[in-house]
Amino acid sequence: MSDVPSKLYEESGKLKVTVKPGRLLEKVSKEALSDPEKFWSEQARNLVWSRQWDRVLEWNPPFARWFAGGLLNASVNCLDKHMNSETKNKAAIIWESETGESRTLTYFQLYRHVNKFANVLRNLGVRKDDRVTIYMPMVPELPVAMLACARIGATHSVVFSGFSSQALIDRINDAGSKVIVTADGGMRKGRLVDLKKVVDESIGSTPSVEHVVVFKRMGNEVRMGPKDLWWHEAVEKAAPYCEPEMVESTHPLYILYTSGTTGKPKGVMHGTGGYLTHLYSTAKWVFDYKKDDVFFCTADIGWVTGHSYIVYAPLMHGITEVMYDGAPDYPKPDRYWAVVEKHGATILYTTPTALRMYMKYGDAIPNSFDLSSLRLLGTVGEPINPEVWMWYYKTIGKEGCPIIDTWWQTETGGIMLGACTGIDMVPMKPGSATFPMPGVDAGVVDENGRPVSPGTKGYIVVRKPWPGMLLSLWGDDEKYKDTYWSKFDGVYYPGDYALVDHDGYLWLLGRADDVLKVAGHRLGTMELESAFVSHPAIAEAAVAGKPDPTKGEVIIAFLVTKEGISKSEALRKEIVEHIRKTVGPIAAPDELYFVGKLPKTRSGKIMRRLLKSIASGEKIGDITTLEDGAAIDEVRQAYEELKKVLG
Ligand code: WTA
Repeated sequence: MSDVPSKLYEESGKLKVTVKPGRLLEKVSKEALSDPEKFWSEQARNLVWSRQWDRVLEWNPPFARWFAGGLLNASVNCLDKHMNSETKNKAAIIWESETGESRTLTYFQLYRHVNKFANVLRNLGVRKDDRVTIYMPMVPELPVAMLACARIGATHSVVFSGFSSQALIDRINDAGSKVIVTADGGMRKGRLVDLKKVVDESIGSTPSVEHVVVFKRMGNEVRMGPKDLWWHEAVEKAAPYCEPEMVESTHPLYILYTSGTTGKPKGVMHGTGGYLTHLYSTAKWVFDYKKDDVFFCTADIGWVTGHSYIVYAPLMHGITEVMYDGAPDYPKPDRYWAVVEKHGATILYTTPTALRMYMKYGDAIPNSFDLSSLRLLGTVGEPINPEVWMWYYKTIGKEGCPIIDTWWQTETGGIMLGACTGIDMVPMKPGSATFPMPGVDAGVVDENGRPVSPGTKGYIVVRKPWPGMLLSLWGDDEKYKDTYWSKFDGVYYPGDYALVDHDGYLWLLGRADDVLKVAGHRLGTMELESAFVSHPAIAEAAVAGKPDPTKGEVIIAFLVTKEGISKSEALRKEIVEHIRKTVGPIAAPDELYFVGKLPKTRSGKIMRRLLKSIASGEKIGDITTLEDGAAIDEVRQAYEELKKVLG
């Protein structure tokens, strides 16, 4: 969906739905931007600090140190602070599996589990600043492990359980993790996901790892090696209370690997005080959490939405949340609606991909459930098409729930754009993420960094530091500067196209680079291409995103085989299997073509724009003008060939 045309914006403008227009948001935002430091320091007072900060912001561009000098602990802010209130015995997590099994943990129970597991980690020698890789299915023990790391000042690095061995190895080694926390397995669409086996395959290539803690989720047979220990056995022996380690506000709470356009995934590093302040505030503004809310965020904790809006934000607010471990459409394409009905969810936060999938099955399925508990509906991860927005609004929300489209990134830590129902309602426009959060200075600029006129496509940028912003990339300050701060002078460059309409609303128009968003999952072209080339039959590979009516985008791969390799159906299957095993099932290409050569510039760079256009089935005008210095004849040949294989 990279090139959502302005036609879409014009059409959706006609569908304007007014809820309850107000001027308060404008006032709050104006005040916040007139003195962001004062504004954010007032927000930071909502957290529990053991030592107050000395300075709100130390800004040494492009490195921000929010609330420098302050000391706090994330697990204290999520758990301990509720132990002397009525929240103590309230449900924190209602867990639901794809088979309809559920489990509820109160704040006290969660607190107890976290304390014990923190002691397990301490007993294994994990100390402040050590890294722990967490590779687990969506069970409550996943947030337990994260909060336990936070409690002792260790930095967690959660790896999405849909990734496989090579992806896991790269992430463990980059972080230099001392311990891996995993499970015997997970469950996906009725099938066992053998996580322990993936860890076993990786362990020989990850020298920093000293211990592997294995949570028993499925009860399947696993091999226990010399570094392995069972979660339940270790926890049984652990003391019930663990003194929290108070850390500096800028202490890295976690690393989360995300895809960019070059090389291996980048370790986005988030701090503690700034990050939590951003989450606390945005959750309050966007979702307007009330005491009796049941918040259902359908993300996987392996991605940033789960980190921020399943683990940290809802728990800091002491609300009840639903955590769902399963696919939206298994065993039947009704799971989210069944979960909403069963647990009385009041807020649903999901993705356009899931909504498009459900929409395909028609209204009868959601209409057969009682969805009347819902009061607010959110989306995240990809641009939402106005038709899908309207379906969400009418069929799911029965025209009674605001739809909040939230735009943000792994790097931004929390929501950057979206309507703030907790401050004031603004008129909604289907498909627009509306306005920046108060205190966030975002705008749209042209190639030269100048603001564009209304209705013109440009790049979204953030002009001032915000508390949720990444500290840097793990171990690579240069890459951090280069990736986010070099395109435009002194402003943050997220890599998305956007426009501002005549009413000042922001519209996101897809990625401006080669990052793919497949069913909302962020994947980098380079990591995928390296995985293809790691197959012995493949000499060169190029991948591109192809627009897809449900998943937004699917992967299409063009491969050049080595000399003398026969391009058989068996090889094709073998390569797809290779990708599933190395990167993970989410990276399996939808279409795969063997070609003689790839279109390249004279300097040998793959002509991505051309590939993308071909994959999208766009008409390409004069290819000689596409890229300077291209080996025109070769490119033309390659292009003709690609067109032919695509039919
Ligand atoms: C895209 C996910 C349009 C965007 C929280 C961004 C969106 C990337 C939206 C970050 C939205 C996220 N509308 N596009 N509401 N939300 N995106 O790091 O391209 O997995 O740069 O974070 O997702 O993906 P990430």
